[in-house]
Amino acid sequence: MKQIIAFNGSPRKNWNTAILLKKTLGGIKSVREDIEIETIHLYDVNYTGCKSCFACKRTGGKSYGQCILKDELTPILAKVKQADALLFGSPIYFGGVTGVMKAFLERLLFPYLTYTTPSSSLFPKKIPTAFIYTMNVTEEDIHKFHYDIPVLNIEKYLSLIFGSTGTLISFDTYQFPDYAKFFVPRFNAAEKIARRKTIFPKDCESAYEMGRGLARIMCTGIMFSPIWFDSRYLHKAPEHYLCPITHKLMDNPVVAADGYSYEREAIELLLGTACRMSPVTNRPFEHTVLIPNHSLKASISDFRSSLLIKPSLIVSSQAVRIQHRS
Ligand SMILES: Cc1cc2nc3c(=O)[nH]c(=O)nc-3n(C[C@H](O)[C@H](O)[C@H](O)COP(=O)(O)O)c2cc1C
Repeated sequence: MKQIIAFNGSPRKNWNTAILLKKTLGGIKSVREDIEIETIHLYDVNYTGCKSCFACKRTGGKSYGQCILKDELTPILAKVKQADALLFGSPIYFGGVTGVMKAFLERLLFPYLTYTTPSSSLFPKKIPTAFIYTMNVTEEDIHKFHYDIPVLNIEKYLSLIFGSTGTLISFDTYQFPDYAKFFVPRFNAAEKIARRKTIFPKDCESAYEMGRGLARIMCTGIMFSPIWFDSRYLHKAPEHYLCPITHKLMDNPVVAADGYSYEREAIELLLGTACRMSPVTNRPFEHTVLIPNHSLKASISDFRSSLLIKPSLIVSSQAVRIQHRS
């Protein structure tokens, strides 16, 4: 049975980050009910960050590639080795992930990172990962406050260590149960409530979609690029311009048996696996004929020129096969 572990880096178990984590897990279950899910609330676990002992880097030592610290994180790090996917969620605190998430990432990632040029990974297999960020700032302000830097940094290390990652960001979140009870003149309570009602549900849909993507990677064993999901992209392009498998703008859209358009390479790879279910309808494909969708290709091309977006990254060399456990 396949297994995913979700790590909640928010101290709150039912707020923005936790809700989006749950939606993602719901998306996973919608594709494969039998995927086993475990959620670990990091604030319930007693541990420290890396103590710089370097046992994980010792030449020829038994501990090479492993964290030797013994605390409540030790059994969790052992479990990660068995997992088929990892999901992380954290609010942004002072421009980065929360302290407990940061300490967790130090312990999780550093032992697997080789001090070589270029760096490589000692993690024994390739598995999909995804990271959910929630924050007060708006999408427009993310660059102004340089929050894209921690996001890019985490994307870099997760894709290096585990093979690929996805990013979902929920901006301008609703932070307090009742804004009237807190001295927070910077925020407009009415605007926050309106956003909670209109935009947050869309973030929840994106999270659900990301979960479906995670489940498909777990079930087909195919990842398409180091960054396989980016919610910021989802909001900008019309939904039917994005391949339901890669979540990227399509270069060569083809219509499949379910009537939906897919990136040719992605759907061909999916049809070549045992998991021949339509990612959109969740029903088996009745045949494998693919018909080029010329009009959609032309529309996407116009859209891309209007945004000056370079052709998406989907080429054969970037499709990564993950290892299946029996
Ligand atoms: C200690 C603390 C620091 C925060 N720092 C930031 C920040 O630097 N930038 C930001 O956009 N939001 C910041 N926030 C807001 C949270 O990131 C945001 O409300 C988030 O959605 C909370 O997640 P949760 O609802 O899952 O707990 C901070 C919140 C707290 C409590």
